[in-house]
Amino acid sequence: MSVSENTHIKDERPSDVNLTIDGIPVTVAEGTTIMDAAKTAGIYIPSLCVHKDLCKLGLCRLCVVESNGRGKLIPSCANTVLEGQTVVTNSPRVAGIRKTIMEMVLADHKLKCKDCVRKNDCVILGTSGTMNIMKNRTIAQNNRPATAPVVHSDILDFDMDKCISCGRCVAACRQEQNIWAIGASNRGKSYRIVTAYDRPLAESPCTFCNRCAAVCPVGAISEHDRSSEIFEKLKAVGATIAVQIDPSLSKAIGQYLSLPEGTFTPGKLVSALRSAGFASVYDRSVTVNYSYMEESRELEARMKTGEKLPMLIGYSDGLAKFTRTFFLALEGSVSQHRSAERIFGETIAAKAGNTTCISVVTNNAEKYRENDTCIILTFKEIAKLLKLAALDFATLAEGAFDLLPEETGISRESISEIRTNNGKTIKTLEVTGFGDARVVMEKITKGECDADLVRVIAE
Ligand code: SF4
Ligand code: SF4
Ligand code: FES
Repeated sequence: MSVSENTHIKDERPSDVNLTIDGIPVTVAEGTTIMDAAKTAGIYIPSLCVHKDLCKLGLCRLCVVESNGRGKLIPSCANTVLEGQTVVTNSPRVAGIRKTIMEMVLADHKLKCKDCVRKNDCVILGTSGTMNIMKNRTIAQNNRPATAPVVHSDILDFDMDKCISCGRCVAACRQEQNIWAIGASNRGKSYRIVTAYDRPLAESPCTFCNRCAAVCPVGAISEHDRSSEIFEKLKAVGATIAVQIDPSLSKAIGQYLSLPEGTFTPGKLVSALRSAGFASVYDRSVTVNYSYMEESRELEARMKTGEKLPMLIGYSDGLAKFTRTFFLALEGSVSQHRSAERIFGETIAAKAGNTTCISVVTNNAEKYRENDTCIILTFKEIAKLLKLAALDFATLAEGAFDLLPEETGISRESISEIRTNNGKTIKTLEVTGFGDARVVMEKITKGECDADLVRVIAE
């Protein structure tokens, strides 16, 4: 029996709403925003602050439209359709207001496009281009002095000269992640993203989940990039730097370097890293597996005693910080097993004490570690570093990974045995992001979660 045939289930599908937009009759489901309804009719409404994952902010006002002939303009992203409504998106009045808003945004945004992380997907460049409003042609240069960042962090960069006051970052941190590490202060040109008492981000509740940077449309918050710094370190006389990287990242790095599909193999990646100056190149999947082994042993020991369950596991030390900040009673539930980075750093330190260790991860959210034995870079930083090295990728030979010392007990064969957990069933719960993690932790605190393992995964 289908759901619609089942008389015991109330049909809760939203009803249809009929309206006209720029004279075109449109029928959409109740609850649809005017902006989305316009899209269904092929009508483009420019926008800056709206984001699909965040609740409607209605801050930039670029998307304003006329409704039912009333004088007041309303933001189309933050208002839902009404039955019989008449919407006008293209009147001279609407166009004039949008032009003024866009010009003000452009005048206040320092164009540093050449090195901007958003140069290929910038909301300002895209929207102003579509509206045919170009700063160099029509907008007076704003001579306000460069603004020093209020928020300091060595994982995220804040550049308020680029900020367009859209509020997305604050919404991501508060609504989505429920962390409240950052907020906005002042209005207009003085608008700033701040932490409480302007403390460095590491001293705020921030878990370095990276969501604020991910939703910032203009690169005002961006991932801190150490590629140039490490490249210089590699060139220094006497530098000994070891790197670990997952072989599968060769594909993403090849794409980033615009190399032909399938040509940048793991072997070429190893050779490229050696040519760039790394003294040794290790396979990170080995230490990742070893870290899993430690995790399994720890879980097994806890399941024997039934204490500190469910065990909490994160993709960085952001989870430990989150738990300490908001759920102190659960601090002991956070797994103590070593990360792949820590295992690598400790193993190399035991082998060759004066070696700097670098571990390459997939995304910025994995960088935050409280006991650093390694510098952590993303694969994008490694790709940029390889660009700086100006290598001829086509002629690189296939290299082989170095092997970690045997005394660490790291061997791929022994790992799969331990992962079976001796046939016991492990109840695992996976949650994405700290917003959902908070919900689960509240349930754990109330004794309403019977999982053995809760894994908080990156966005
Ligand atoms: S990284 Fe995450 S927790 Fe930190 S300020 Fe950004 S959104 Fe908030
Ligand atoms: S930092 Fe970025 S996301 Fe935050 S308000 Fe400014 S432009 Fe918007
Ligand atoms: S996109 Fe609607 S107010 Fe910003």
